[in-house]
Amino acid sequence: MPRRSGAEVTRRTARAPGRVNLIGDHTDYTGGLALPAALPWSTTVTWEEHEDLVIVETALDGTAQRGSIGLDQDPVDEPSWLIIAQHLARLVGTGGSLKVTSDLPIGAGLSSSAAYTVAVALALGITGDPWSIAKRCQEAEAAAGSNVGLLDQMASLAGAFEHAVLLDFTKEHFDLVQLPEGTEVVIVDSTERRSLANSAYADRRHDGDAVEREIGPLSSAGLDLLESIQDPQLRRRARHVISENHRVRAAVEFARSGNAVEFGEAMNESHRSLAEDFDVSTPKLDAVSAALRSSSGVFGARMTGGGFGGCVVALAEQGVGASIDLGLPTWVVVPGDGAVLVDGE
Ligand code: GLA
Repeated sequence: MPRRSGAEVTRRTARAPGRVNLIGDHTDYTGGLALPAALPWSTTVTWEEHEDLVIVETALDGTAQRGSIGLDQDPVDEPSWLIIAQHLARLVGTGGSLKVTSDLPIGAGLSSSAAYTVAVALALGITGDPWSIAKRCQEAEAAAGSNVGLLDQMASLAGAFEHAVLLDFTKEHFDLVQLPEGTEVVIVDSTERRSLANSAYADRRHDGDAVEREIGPLSSAGLDLLESIQDPQLRRRARHVISENHRVRAAVEFARSGNAVEFGEAMNESHRSLAEDFDVSTPKLDAVSAALRSSSGVFGARMTGGGFGGCVVALAEQGVGASIDLGLPTWVVVPGDGAVLVDGE
């Protein structure tokens, strides 16, 4: 691998936000569509060059952790945050010490892992267009055992203040979208936790591959192709993905025409599809989203992200979020800016 020469010490700080996905889940890894927004909370990483060692010090959720690994060391059995940093450091060919802080809820399904990975990549000096940086980050997460798509990294990289981001994973294209005027985004943490790496996420990816072997790319498939799928479970998986891509497209139109009611309906339908056809919801996520849906001033609600726990997102009339009390952590969020290099070049 290439190594830097010279004695100058390089130091860089980067900040990358988490994300909430408004609609379009389990569509990224089959080249579909999604509409996430970057959160106003982020992870900050300061990197200082340090030859052959990767040292990571984190101060997250009140817990301090420290780990180190040689640039060329076999990362087997190391924690994922260390493997990710080592993988990215290898790409730039130099080690370093990384100091990590965050105001993002960790492990709540708001992409704390992608925020960390993107912040490390930028702090290490990885540059390029958002899609290429996102792919380096995806590879690093895969090296640490999480075979994720590109939704979270792209939301973190391409997000913009007060906007959602329409992501097209086949065209590798993104567009900023304004949510209907007079609305706000509300997030409720179900407090149920399940790590993606150990969950049924990988099974869903296999199902997606199996469906595509039968009917071709899901991103361009129509619902008429469903009849030809023999296996009932695979048919339901395909129905979710195809209809979810349609819903994202429709939701973007509803957002652009200021139709919050229809946007909310699309969110409700998305939840139903994720729960009944994709089997990634839980009784708690169903209960929280149903409670939100029946709260006055809420247009729609759905689980957000990979599922099996984590958060529920709702679109509500402005001013309504503050009065929602389900006895769970609840936030009204204004979408924030995407990842940036704060300091250094
Ligand atoms: C997780 C993954 C993403 C995406 C979502 C589901 O957040 O990291 O790549 O697949 O689940 O939409």
